[in-house]
Amino acid sequence: MQTIDVTLEPHPYTIHVGHGVLARLGGLCRAAGLGRQVALITDHTVAGLHLEPAAAGLREAGFEVTEVRFAGTDSAKNLRTAEQIFGQLIQAGLDRRAWVLALGGGVVGDLAGFVAATFLRGIPFVQVPTTIVSQVDASIGGKTGVNHALGKNMIGAFHQPRLVCIDTALLRTLPRRELVAGMAEVVKHAVIRDPALFEFLEHHIEQIAGMELDPDQLDGLIAANARIKAEVVAADEKESELRAILNYGHTIGHAIESASQYGYLHGEAVILGMVGAGELAVQRGMWPEAERTRQDQLLVRLGMPPGLSRLGADLIVERTRADKKRLEGRHRFVLARRLGQVEIVDGISDTEVRAAVEYIQRRHP
Ligand SMILES: NC(=O)c1ccc[n+]([C@@H]2O[C@H](COP(=O)([O-])OP(=O)(O)OC[C@H]3O[C@@H](n4cnc5c(N)ncnc54)[C@H](O)[C@@H]3O)[C@@H](O)[C@H]2O)c1
Ligand SMILES: [Zn+2]
Repeated sequence: MQTIDVTLEPHPYTIHVGHGVLARLGGLCRAAGLGRQVALITDHTVAGLHLEPAAAGLREAGFEVTEVRFAGTDSAKNLRTAEQIFGQLIQAGLDRRAWVLALGGGVVGDLAGFVAATFLRGIPFVQVPTTIVSQVDASIGGKTGVNHALGKNMIGAFHQPRLVCIDTALLRTLPRRELVAGMAEVVKHAVIRDPALFEFLEHHIEQIAGMELDPDQLDGLIAANARIKAEVVAADEKESELRAILNYGHTIGHAIESASQYGYLHGEAVILGMVGAGELAVQRGMWPEAERTRQDQLLVRLGMPPGLSRLGADLIVERTRADKKRLEGRHRFVLARRLGQVEIVDGISDTEVRAAVEYIQRRHP
């Protein structure tokens, strides 16, 4: 097992990473000084696969577990579901010393974290992420929240977990499409911050996509990525621009998600968004063509999502304009300078964005 300390004040916490670490969940939660009552929130799919050992371990460690399940889709990540869960927590008699455990992907983590942030004005919570996205991204950083009919993640709160327990063995049941999409965030981490990780991915991408890494390699991969996310969010307390680098590939990615009415998984849209960001950087003369080619070849080997031919470039550019990071009518993008190093670039025009979208369409029709 590896541990990563997240040095966020006033509540630093530890991320535990390793295959089989779920078996130690009860002990880790006791050591963290958590109260006796816990609401274990999960979705129906994860409940069928991984709830039993998680709940049994907590009960063996002396915790009183209330199991809560919901649909676990992004369309169920809303205030109505939160309200239903509040009802279940009240009926189960949970008090201020109780805590919430999120067992699942980012949908479960965001919703359960939001419930923990608001129930009785905030109770502790623990993350047990079960997807690549949640293990390397969503479970770290304390962003919790739900969607509104008028926009994704519009309602929420920062609420840091007391502890994050990442069992990489849980990833073995993940459908390949979710795995590939989740790997988009891993490639993103490599491009923005870690050239050695990029080279590791170049050597092993087919094995990773086929879930054929040996357990120690998988632990190393997930831990390296959880560490990158933890470092960026911890440093961001002082450096307000740093967290923005995590948006690499996300400006066009979010626009594609929105323009396709969420026909793409988030990570799939980010894969296409990174291709677009690569083209922007090359056109600006910032990024050597050869490195962009390495990025794009890695993404192709990982597995490209359906191409963009069905979506008009105009619509995607228009949705890019709605991006929260836009400043005074021009676009702000995270662009690569070299593998492992990015910059935030302001003042990118609609014409440049359109050319980048058309590039994605030509490459991936
Ligand atoms: N808070 C943050 O910082 C942050 C960061 C990134 C994403 N998010 C949010 O996370 C959500 C996406 O999360 P996600 O990509 O993990 O998707 P998800 O939570 O929707 O899970 C994807 C699917 O995989 C299933 N699943 C989960 N674990 C499994 C396992 N081990 N085996 C088999 N199936 C499993 C789920 O039931 C679901 O059907 C979005 O709502 C997004 O807004 C939040
Ligand atoms: Zn993302």
